[in-house]
Amino acid sequence: MAFARNQWYVTAYSNEVGRDLLARTVLGEPLVLYRTESGEAVALADRCVHRRYPLSESRLDGDTIVCGYHGFTYDQTGTCVFVPGQQRIPRTARVAAYPVVEQDSLIWVWIGDRDRADPTTIPRAPWLDDPRYAVVRGMEPLNARYSLLVDNLMDLSHETYLHGGYIGTPEVANTPITTEVDEERGIVYVSRHMDDAECPPFYAKSTGIQGRITRWQDIEFHPPCLYLLHSRIAPQGLYPPAEGEDSDAFHAEIVYAITPSTENTTYDFWAVARDFAIDDESVSEYLHQSNRTVVMQDVTALNILEQVIASEPDKYQELSINIDTGGLAARRLIARMVEAGTVGAPR
Ligand code: FES
Ligand SMILES: [Fe+2]
Repeated sequence: MAFARNQWYVTAYSNEVGRDLLARTVLGEPLVLYRTESGEAVALADRCVHRRYPLSESRLDGDTIVCGYHGFTYDQTGTCVFVPGQQRIPRTARVAAYPVVEQDSLIWVWIGDRDRADPTTIPRAPWLDDPRYAVVRGMEPLNARYSLLVDNLMDLSHETYLHGGYIGTPEVANTPITTEVDEERGIVYVSRHMDDAECPPFYAKSTGIQGRITRWQDIEFHPPCLYLLHSRIAPQGLYPPAEGEDSDAFHAEIVYAITPSTENTTYDFWAVARDFAIDDESVSEYLHQSNRTVVMQDVTALNILEQVIASEPDKYQELSINIDTGGLAARRLIARMVEAGTVGAPR
């Protein structure tokens, strides 16, 4: 599987990167992440140039990393500033330093060709770092390929079957979707508006709504990495006012960052930001535990699917239907990115 290399990927949450060394593998490249004393996030290749010892197994000394094997020492640009037993430092003694941008409580890293890294192209998820929202979040590593998680999130009809009793109700699978693609900006939109639906426990318990609901799911996927699900929940028949705030409805901004780790493993970053009951710890606890359960149901299913795919002959012919239009559009945009990233920058 080819990756879209010249792209930004979420590699960690801001609060995971500090003065301890953090190892993550993104697009097959081992990285070590840390924060300098002044608070700047750094990502370096996680292999010492000397004998490949992982720098993540080493230690920080100020803003430098001292290799845990023989002491080669690297600054935050990846330049080696000390080698043991000699004055002269070989010119080639450096590890790659990756462009890093910290935004919306996410650490984005650019894996491809440095000169093409443009921070203004990073999509936003402002709710994750906004005091008007309460956020619960987590990250689950997946033993399945990236494309399987993209497929999974682009088609929420599976909620009815895989997540029944949590977020799934019959209406999700029964309600048709609309799909739109912004070719220029490279965004896929998938909407499912349920006018009269059962309220799943996930929202009944967190909002306190009793009875039927009007439930909207508006997906915005910014390939390759950022997936936003705008979820609007309201008592049945309550629609947004023609003007002003939609303040009688409940809004959850559900964010996933889908980051390929290796060919067959993926980081599944998930977060739920809500604009209701924001000071209620018990709601946070419930949504955290409940969403994590839902994510683990996906993880289990996708890990099984990865085994199936890994053991079958190539050329298996899938059958796609209407529910798959979003997933197919995403595949097409990702394929386009892979192509654009490899032309002129072969690796
Ligand atoms: S492997 Fe890092 S100093 Fe030898
Ligand atoms: Fe799911």
